[in-house]
Amino acid sequence: MSGILLTDVKLPSGGKTDVLIRAGRIVTIAPKIQADDTTRISGGGKLLLPAGIDFHVHFRTPGATYKESLFTGARAAVKGGIATCGDMPNTAPPTTTFERLEAKVALTGDLPADVFCHFGAEPDNLAEVKRAAQHPRCKAIKIFIGPSTGHGGLAPDAVERHFRFAAETGLPVIVHAEDIDLINAASARYPHDARHHGDLRPLEAELAAVRFALELARRYPVRLCIAHSTSAEVIRLAEESGVRERVFVEVAPHHLLLASEDIDPPTDNRYKVNPPIRPEPVRAGLAMRLGEGIDGLGSDHAPHTLAEKAQTYDSAPSGIPGVEYQMPLAISWWREGRISLDRLIALTSGSVSRFFGLNKGRIAAGADADLILVDPEAEWRIGAGGDQVASRCGYTLYAGMKLRGRIEMTIVGGHVAWTREGGWSDPVPARWAGDSTPGSGGRPVAHVHPGGSTGDPCCD
Ligand code: DOR
Ligand code: ZN
Repeated sequence: MSGILLTDVKLPSGGKTDVLIRAGRIVTIAPKIQADDTTRISGGGKLLLPAGIDFHVHFRTPGATYKESLFTGARAAVKGGIATCGDMPNTAPPTTTFERLEAKVALTGDLPADVFCHFGAEPDNLAEVKRAAQHPRCKAIKIFIGPSTGHGGLAPDAVERHFRFAAETGLPVIVHAEDIDLINAASARYPHDARHHGDLRPLEAELAAVRFALELARRYPVRLCIAHSTSAEVIRLAEESGVRERVFVEVAPHHLLLASEDIDPPTDNRYKVNPPIRPEPVRAGLAMRLGEGIDGLGSDHAPHTLAEKAQTYDSAPSGIPGVEYQMPLAISWWREGRISLDRLIALTSGSVSRFFGLNKGRIAAGADADLILVDPEAEWRIGAGGDQVASRCGYTLYAGMKLRGRIEMTIVGGHVAWTREGGWSDPVPARWAGDSTPGSGGRPVAHVHPGGSTGDPCCD
């Protein structure tokens, strides 16, 4: 047997069809396909969509696999209808040398999802970036304009060097945009308490860094992704930049769904994330641009254990897990009539694929066979009725949320990676056996290593 014949599926355009998949790609889309040498899978009339692409995840290999590993993260991804991830470089040690990039990529071969590895910018690693830019599994360079968990932020001259260089290599730039000076000024002004997280990292700090990144994008012809944009003002700045066609405004589900006034109790560090959850008017303004303006979703999946989150404000790491529920949430937005089906596809895969140059995000002959089957009529609750958090951190802020439309199957590269009935299709490869347990987060606080590798074999 070679390949899959998916029968009786419904296309986004409405037609019923069969889809022939061979060697990881879609070969033919037609009403009645004969292919006796393939594995036949009946779609039962369900809706076929391109699988999600989440190009903003923080799996924690190497350095903190007790929170998440490439393997547990990839399992959570496919369970959530995501076939492709872009893993961020702020690991311990960070992915800032070509050797570390190769070492990480070498670990991605047996994962249930297709995981690309973004490269990290440091003040003086341009020679390494040059080599990374040639690597087929590296699709972007991540620049921290401003500090966050696992990175202290780059000085403006170093940021500019990287933009100039990216214009030469052609490697797209992803920025974490928060201005260091404005954050430092706020730090002296407000109490260090979760209630003031949004004051300590104000929207002005984000917008200042976005203006700086856009100014550099005007000067150097890079493709610029502004990660986890929290405000419609970022979109407006991109629109006024004169380089809108080279700018990708990425938004994370938590900034669309959560407002700071609703955090209950307000001291709950699980909501601590950089950039912060904003007040309701800012959230609502951003959500207004779901239909047009936001280019795509990136979950900024940043798992930490509940034990870490239970520490005092200053000690608790920032980050919200999200890879697993981004696609279900977006599907539900479509079912609730907030976005069109075309827009759902653009936001969750199509536009991301185009921006980063992937062969994904569309159902067409020749495209990678990364697909999901969806039951549009189903209704369910996150974390209930058989749904269990797969991320190793073991929790989601969206527990109990009622969603419409349900993912039944995820196909990655022409291979059934997960079904709702049967779970993950493949056995756990030996090298991942140690961290295969879903939801086993909550290991002791002593395992936090924000500053770098400890040599501790359980984490590195
Ligand atoms: O809140 C955040 N957490 N923001 C980041 O930029 C990094 C992330 C993490 O890796 O935990
Ligand atoms: Zn991030």
